[in-house]
Amino acid sequence: MHILTVLDHPNPHSFSAAIARSFMSGAQSADHTTELADLHAEGFSPIWSAADANPETHANSSRDIKAEQRRIERADAICLVFPLYWWGMPAMMKGWVDRVWSWGWAYDQLDDPDTSLQRPRSGLLLVPAGARSDEIEANGHRAAMETAWIDGTFGYFGLSPRRLELLCGSTGSNTRRADLLNRAFEAGRSMTPATSPATHRG
Ligand SMILES: Cc1cc2nc3c(=O)[nH]c(=O)nc-3n(C[C@H](O)[C@H](O)[C@H](O)COP(=O)(O)O)c2cc1C
Repeated sequence: MHILTVLDHPNPHSFSAAIARSFMSGAQSADHTTELADLHAEGFSPIWSAADANPETHANSSRDIKAEQRRIERADAICLVFPLYWWGMPAMMKGWVDRVWSWGWAYDQLDDPDTSLQRPRSGLLLVPAGARSDEIEANGHRAAMETAWIDGTFGYFGLSPRRLELLCGSTGSNTRRADLLNRAFEAGRSMTPATSPATHRG
């Protein structure tokens, strides 16, 4: 498979960047080809602009959006890597989702997350988070993220199977962080091909 990893972190020495590298090493160890979209390094603009919102100068015709869409079209599987900020996506990743997965290219209606215009791909979210896993479970944060990202966003992306892997305790000990890096490697090594979601019309 060809696997696209999309990274949101401004620091190439960050834990999130190390997680992305570890995931890609795992994927390569299983003979997958990999491609990295390093959004900060590449200067991607996450700002939803007047041009994006105007049907005449639609997002699908903007050069930077098209380049990202070509990357997705090449990929059989997609992995998004970003640190958990305020129980959500940091602004760069949120803007990439808003701008790139646009109406008319990714979806054309608003009431069925499993009806994507895109061919099926497998998908993974790898998300370093400072909090402990028991805190995240007990407070309902994981359930909220599963609903928003797995049932919602990744459904419209047409990803199947799709999975959220929260890398809790990412600010912990070196032992803890080594364990999380191993989990990212294993996640890359064990990526599986797409299965058909409920409906696919692309
Ligand atoms: C602005 C900001 C918001 C954060 N919000 C959360 C949060 O809501 N939940 C959480 O568990 N950790 C939160 N954290 C901690 C980060 O998820 C954690 O430090 C992560 O490891 C950062 O990635 P990095 O190590 O690659 O920089 C936040 C950190 C920052 C800087």
